[in-house]
Amino acid sequence: MTTKPTVLRDLPADLDVQRLPKHVAVIMDGNGRWAKERGLPRSMGHRRGVDTLKELLRCCKDWGIQTLTAYAFSTENWSRPLEEVDFLMALFERVLRRELREMTQEGVRINFVGDLSPLPASLREEIRQAVEQTRNNQGIQFIVAKNYGGRGEILQACRAIADQVQQGLLQLDEINEAIFEQYLYTAGICDPDLLIRTSGEMRISNFLLWQMAYTELYVTETLWPEFDRIEFHRALHDYQRRHRRFGRI
Ligand code: IPE
Ligand code: IPE
Ligand code: MG
Repeated sequence: MTTKPTVLRDLPADLDVQRLPKHVAVIMDGNGRWAKERGLPRSMGHRRGVDTLKELLRCCKDWGIQTLTAYAFSTENWSRPLEEVDFLMALFERVLRRELREMTQEGVRINFVGDLSPLPASLREEIRQAVEQTRNNQGIQFIVAKNYGGRGEILQACRAIADQVQQGLLQLDEINEAIFEQYLYTAGICDPDLLIRTSGEMRISNFLLWQMAYTELYVTETLWPEFDRIEFHRALHDYQRRHRRFGRI
């Protein structure tokens, strides 16, 4: 007799495939606390966090979610101790290199949002290759927010639009929401339907400020390294019970 699988490979029967979020965004918070609870260095929490993300990406793919965006490093995270920032950059580069082949094989299309210019050159090169190598993949779209800040994103869009106006290429009264969105890092990507934040914090920490105007929010006390398919199922179940009104009655 075969043993019962311990992970839910197929979409759980109590979820409605017609009402799944198209785009899920995650604030992967609580790596440090997870490590501290175990008397481990924070870096161990970040390592474990990578496994969680990998598993969530696979789960989204298995269950038919089209886009997953993960907040990997905020513009505010530069204020952490240099040692931690360096560790995160190195970890990120290593993981990208290590996982690229598998992501390519599994049909993952990877993209990045954020200001990549201050990142180490070797990391930028790794990012460039990953985007290039996966650009024609037809499976899940995986977006990594790296050196991302919502206010910074909106400001750079304003500057780019002002520049167009100054050059006479765009008229003031042509600027509307649809035009504005074309200048965001997320141009062409639908807004998140569901935001999940782990570790209980009730804030959005400068993530996707414009894009989350009507996103459903889900916060769990679970720390990111422990967020698994069962937790994700719970979040989706909760999401499907909601009535999204978008201002209507
Ligand atoms: C999230 O975990 C990972 C990043 C911000 C890169 P934290 O490192 O914020 O963990 P806590 O919040 O200190 O527990
Ligand atoms: C948000 O987590 C950023 C990422 C998960 C990358 P933080 O841990 O930086 O957020 P705050 O400081 O608690 O708001
Ligand atoms: Mg945190």
